[in-house]
Amino acid sequence: MPGTTAAPAAVLGLDRVGWSVGGATILSDVSLEVYEGEFLAFIGPNGAGKTSLFNLISGLVPATAGRVVLDGTDITGEAPYARARRGLGRTFQTSSLWPAMSVAEHVRLAAQAAVGGSYRIWRRAPRHQDKVDDVLARTGLTHRVDALAQALSHGEKRKLELAVLLVAEPRLMLLDEPMAGVSAEEVPALTELIRTLHREEGRTVLMVEHHMDVLLGLADRLAVMHHGSLLALDSPEAVTADATVQQAYLGEAL
Ligand SMILES: Nc1ncnc2c1ncn2[C@@H]1O[C@H](COP(=O)(O)OP(=O)(O)O)[C@@H](O)[C@H]1O
Ligand SMILES: [Mg+2]
Repeated sequence: MPGTTAAPAAVLGLDRVGWSVGGATILSDVSLEVYEGEFLAFIGPNGAGKTSLFNLISGLVPATAGRVVLDGTDITGEAPYARARRGLGRTFQTSSLWPAMSVAEHVRLAAQAAVGGSYRIWRRAPRHQDKVDDVLARTGLTHRVDALAQALSHGEKRKLELAVLLVAEPRLMLLDEPMAGVSAEEVPALTELIRTLHREEGRTVLMVEHHMDVLLGLADRLAVMHHGSLLALDSPEAVTADATVQQAYLGEAL
């Protein structure tokens, strides 16, 4: 119809999800929609449930209430690998690298896992190497291919974790505190890499991050978690001006 704009498509929908374990309610009644190409950042005090929510979305913990919908399909009961195959990828708050394995080995192993089945690896070896080279170039790690993970700087480790993730070319990426442990000098380059993955490569990004200066340049919307619930979900400007949000941080400057 002329004059009407189509509503943006929701890639991910959370419909009143909750997670209770051992008698404790960790997440309750979280509902939100993430739109195609959007950058949604999660903030909130330690223990608010941000990592738990990412675990629930990626399938590492079950939703004990509500529904998780990806591209219109209910994936609430699906295993993590099945969600990964649908284009959902994530990184972890703490490093998930093997100290004594090289940069190239990490990416190669991820590429093999993405293709699946050991004999197919041999058949597809050339294309495989192209993919590895391409991902290393995109993450700025080409000059570090032979370095062991333990020899990398914190910023390089985070880039390698992104490289491992990128091999599968996820459409929806969940990044849990990608700046954690990274030195101040390395933050801008890592921020630029994440910006490129979002803006230029068109990926939908969900990211937990404490650095507000990083987020204000990246995020389309901010979600504030508090005591396992969603306290606010709005533009960065509206959220940072919100008095309830300020209170949740007990006076911590946003
Ligand atoms: N597997 C688990 N079993 C029991 N409690 C958990 C588990 N994982 C996380 N929690 C608890 O859930 C709460 C939220 O933790 P988390 O999601 O890591 O918060 P955030 O990432 O916002 O700091 C914390 O109180 C934490 O102790
Ligand atoms: Mg966390």
